[in-house]
Amino acid sequence: MLRTRTCGELRLKDAKKEATLCGWVHSRRDHGGVIFIDLRDRYGLTQIVFNPTFHQEAHAEAEKLKREDVLRVRGEVHPRAKGMANPNLDTGEIEVFISHLEILNHAETPPLEIDDNKEASEEMRLKYRYLDLRRPKMQNRLLMRHKAAQATREYLNSQSFMEIETPMLVKTTPGGARVFKVPSRVHTGKFYALPESPQLYKQLLMVSGCDRYYQFARCLRDEDLRADRQPEFTQIDLEMSFVETHDVQEIIEGLLKDMFKKAAGKEIKTPFTRITYAEAMEKYGSDKPDLRFGLELKEVTKEVKKSEFSVFKNAPSVKCLCVEGGAKFSRKDLEELETFVKIYQAKGLAYLKIQNGKLDSSIAKYFKEELQQELIKKTSAKEGDILLFVADKLEIVYAALGALRLELGKRFKLYNPDELKFCWVVDFPLYELVEEKWEARHHIFTMPREEDMPWLEKDPSKVRGKLYDVVLNGVEIGGGSIRIHNKEVQTRVLKVIGLSYEEAQERFDFLLEAFQYGAPPHGGIALGFDRVVALMAGLNDIREVIAFPKTKAAENPMDGSPQEWTEAQLKELHLRLDGVKKPIQG
Ligand code: AMO
Ligand code: AMP
Repeated sequence: MLRTRTCGELRLKDAKKEATLCGWVHSRRDHGGVIFIDLRDRYGLTQIVFNPTFHQEAHAEAEKLKREDVLRVRGEVHPRAKGMANPNLDTGEIEVFISHLEILNHAETPPLEIDDNKEASEEMRLKYRYLDLRRPKMQNRLLMRHKAAQATREYLNSQSFMEIETPMLVKTTPGGARVFKVPSRVHTGKFYALPESPQLYKQLLMVSGCDRYYQFARCLRDEDLRADRQPEFTQIDLEMSFVETHDVQEIIEGLLKDMFKKAAGKEIKTPFTRITYAEAMEKYGSDKPDLRFGLELKEVTKEVKKSEFSVFKNAPSVKCLCVEGGAKFSRKDLEELETFVKIYQAKGLAYLKIQNGKLDSSIAKYFKEELQQELIKKTSAKEGDILLFVADKLEIVYAALGALRLELGKRFKLYNPDELKFCWVVDFPLYELVEEKWEARHHIFTMPREEDMPWLEKDPSKVRGKLYDVVLNGVEIGGGSIRIHNKEVQTRVLKVIGLSYEEAQERFDFLLEAFQYGAPPHGGIALGFDRVVALMAGLNDIREVIAFPKTKAAENPMDGSPQEWTEAQLKELHLRLDGVKKPIQG
């Protein structure tokens, strides 16, 4: 090694010892001819001192140093002078008097500052990601991610899981996401898909008798991006044989408990709360409820039908939020909230304030005294509260009030941002209606609940699947299911979405064929590793915990991907652009 110590390890007990350090010039100060430099490496900062009275040559060299130059220095460790210690720095009680300086490399002026307190634009941060990652904050995030991965492996290995890799060039995958396609050079006109998850392969591994599989799986999805979505992301993907829902849940609870403890020093309580999909929607308007605070949706359709307010009388569903102390909201506050719910397609946000034991607002006149009291009772509203209503189709009511609930929670600090509130959302409907057609909500291999099977043919909307999502603070951090392992159930489930077993066999031939040779009952789950680490670090944006993420436009400003291909490159694959865009020459 070119160094004997790192920049994060010297302490008072090292005084009088020699140390050789390597690192980057983080900052530099000149004080009356003495030069102080904070030398930085992954492990921390150490103050190094160049004093002309002691080491003239080294001092003269140091005069030329600029930020981010790479140094190797040797010197003696000294306690800092009285009153000069820096309590914010692990090495803050010492400094190193330098006798030898070797400049390993000069640095150009960096286009962004290596400073935790100065945030450059997203474009600049991603273009110069290698510099952005030099910031201690970013180093700590990568370290936390590494520790979380380490803890995951330790835990799952201890539970008899085997780590197995599955292919990246595949035929097709059963999830709903659009896949990236890769043209084959060898097989003209044929394409591979990049896996949106290892779903089929992990199920095949169960047929193989592997019993317990896991993988840090890179998943690729050609979807529109948001803060918590990337086109390539990482799952902790696992599958288990001979299990029921609670077995998978117990493994995940144990895993998350260990991971949060080892990677972030945080204790989490297990078992997690279990809540059905139906209850989550009813109370929170969301299938990924943030349980750190109450402010539940109140159902009032029946009551408000008795009013004279036509919007309410004619709406399929009316629900409201009762906000404590909200009677003091100004007209402007209420206008803002109305604009907010309109993002979610609500047509308006009617309100009623509880003042002097009665309801008050421009629509109060439509509510007779008796009805007013009934409404106050039904919503448990108190003096000084406000009721905020959305009347619409059920989906819109849920979406608008669910989002408004979160917005109010954030605005009025109704929860402790450091709290970690996990829950399982279970019993999702197996199907959803997409453009009047039934589609599998998760994927077509999900087992229906036994008691709901008779509804498969009669009313698919009533069929709940053995599905479970794990949610942390309102973010879906994982999802999975118990799978179908027999042909009879599979055929019935497929029929609902208009696929015959034979048609499905064409798409997923190898899996369905494999199932004929003795498939064990099995189930599994995948955790979104990026999301888990982001939340662990107190962040919402998963790009902050990914070394080289893409922008919101799915581009990488550093390597310039996606890139155009030349005519020759396209020709090799027998591909031609459709004329919307010309290939570049070359
Ligand atoms: P699912 O599609 O629900 O399930 O994905 C599992 C978890 O992966 C995370 N996730 C994402 N994270 C970042 N960027 C994305 N684009 C993205 N998409 C999903 C979420 C999600 O909960 N094969 C099934 C799992 C199974 O059934 O075992 C699957 O992939 O946190
Ligand atoms: P209007 O009668 O259209 O003036 O609306 C009276 C109040 O009802 C306003 O505060 C509107 O925001 C609200 N409002 C209108 N349509 C709806 C709706 N579908 N749901 C909830 N509030 C509504």
